[in-house]
Amino acid sequence: MLKIENLSFSYGKIQAIKNVSFELKKGEIMAIVGANGAGKSSLMKCIAGLLKPQNGTIYCGDTLLEPIPFKVVENKVVLVPEGRWIFPNLTVEENLMMGGYTVNDRSPGIQHAYRMFPRLEERKQQRAGTMSGGEQQMLAIARGLMANPKVLLLDEPSLGLAPLIVNDIMSIIQEINREGISVLLVEQNARKALGIAHHGCVLEQGVIVKTGTGAELAQDESIIAAYLGGTKKKEQ
Ligand SMILES: Nc1ncnc2c1ncn2[C@@H]1O[C@H](COP(=O)(O)OP(=O)(O)OP(=O)(O)O)[C@@H](O)[C@H]1O
Ligand SMILES: [Mg+2]
Repeated sequence: MLKIENLSFSYGKIQAIKNVSFELKKGEIMAIVGANGAGKSSLMKCIAGLLKPQNGTIYCGDTLLEPIPFKVVENKVVLVPEGRWIFPNLTVEENLMMGGYTVNDRSPGIQHAYRMFPRLEERKQQRAGTMSGGEQQMLAIARGLMANPKVLLLDEPSLGLAPLIVNDIMSIIQEINREGISVLLVEQNARKALGIAHHGCVLEQGVIVKTGTGAELAQDESIIAAYLGGTKKKEQ
């Protein structure tokens, strides 16, 4: 569905992504885990066309994605960025409308968003900046869905959220995936991400150092030591 080959990106002298290749299969969730500064967001921005890689190719199906953001969205690859970037002064519904700017009739998308996130319907006239962190993350995801993605790129959806809300977000990601959308999920919360992912990669200093199924990676001793708190004990 999404095929990344030999992707490299540098900010001047800092090489954030080094020769990265992987494939997100259709209908799957793929997790990319890694420490702060590993290059996860840079990778997502390259896929979304916000950064122009110096090397490599990105295909969605048979289509070569040019690094131009609106063209990437037209090809149904949609980024929900780290930090959410909702429009704080617009209402919930206006934010959703903005997400569907490539779609002719946005009302089915709005209805779908409200079915998936009833809280957003209750608060559709509320200014988005006054919502809680968890609600804002749900809005950011719902806004991304408004563009009818085939591939949803989620950058740190659980960042800064309480554990119970993180579980809600992970369930929502699984529900979105069950509807047929392939998901690339970047997370520092490796345990949660690998728990719902079909496949995963570990990114270290811009390089993919390990790949496997979500279950394999979650059981891998070196990953447990580096990213899962150094113990096989399960979280709640
Ligand atoms: N605009 C920029 N200019 C220069 N260097 C940058 C810029 N953005 C990121 N970097 C550098 O690129 C590297 C990768 O950063 P990136 O944001 O992709 O990491 P990350 O894995 O998403 O980290 P985090 O988990 O903290 O979000 C880091 O060394 C960072 O300092
Ligand atoms: Mg990041």
